[in-house]
Amino acid sequence: MQDLNSVFGLEGKVAVVTGGASGIGESVAEVLAQAGASVVVGDLNAEGAEATAKRLRESGAEAVAGGVDIANREEVNALVGLAESEFGGLDVLCNVAGMPHDGTLEELNDSDFDRVVSVNIRGTLYGCQAAIPLMAARGGGSIINVSSGAIDLPVAGFGLYSLTKAAVAQMTHTLAQEVGDRGIRVNALAPGATITNFTKRRLKQPDGSINSEDFDQFIGSMESMSPIGRVGESVDQAWLVLYLASEASRFCTGQIWRANGGATTGR
Ligand SMILES: NC(=O)c1ccc[n+]([C@@H]2O[C@H](COP(=O)([O-])OP(=O)(O)OC[C@H]3O[C@@H](n4cnc5c(N)ncnc54)[C@H](O)[C@@H]3O)[C@@H](O)[C@H]2O)c1
Repeated sequence: MQDLNSVFGLEGKVAVVTGGASGIGESVAEVLAQAGASVVVGDLNAEGAEATAKRLRESGAEAVAGGVDIANREEVNALVGLAESEFGGLDVLCNVAGMPHDGTLEELNDSDFDRVVSVNIRGTLYGCQAAIPLMAARGGGSIINVSSGAIDLPVAGFGLYSLTKAAVAQMTHTLAQEVGDRGIRVNALAPGATITNFTKRRLKQPDGSINSEDFDQFIGSMESMSPIGRVGESVDQAWLVLYLASEASRFCTGQIWRANGGATTGR
């Protein structure tokens, strides 16, 4: 019988996680470290990335942090390079960092377009490009990109974000075809509504606080989209990432994975 700890575990593996200061990326960094990986935590919020890495070290894991704007190729190369310089190579890349954009396509301006495309599309591509040679040198690896449930359920006023996440899904399909011969698997999450700063941003009042009634109403509307009446927590995405990072998913590549409470199944 297979030892499930070695099939689902990441002992001896090295992972890079972007967006690791908050939300899904923070949870991914924690779960991968818990499973035995050494983790490089990257984020635009360098202090937040260091706080996550410090917590991982305090729990007994190996972790370092780096500030990174994923829209900058050199900064992404430097972050991914930490996997090799600090831990000797790279096995898992989780491209979690991303940014929202609120506004209609009709009113979209060039500077918002350029920034969101640069972060969500270029940033994801830069991560993949930096990771491929390092993974190939180890005989393979697993890349996990983060798309969005927004690719399944178009929402008015969320078009730019959705189109960048559709690009991430397509990038994932194509890259899986291109790098499979080097043992590299490429998958993406399409998370459904998951409670993080990202989803809470629209509820924030000018002083940064959130009215509890607004919050409850918001959660209720998210829950009502799910046949099991649930809204996601970051760790629901992180546990799926663990599967995709581990040997348990060795037959899976080029796919979009939907931890979304079934929100897209009824349409
Ligand atoms: N929360 C959801 O419901 C949901 C649903 C679908 C997809 N997603 C995607 O999940 C990912 C994580 O989002 P989250 O919900 O955890 O939000 P979050 O705001 O809690 O975390 C996002 C993190 O990314 C970092 N970041 C933003 N721009 C960056 C940049 N240019 N370079 C480096 N780091 C940057 C932020 O500083 C932050 O720490 C995003 O790609 C988002 O699009 C989230």
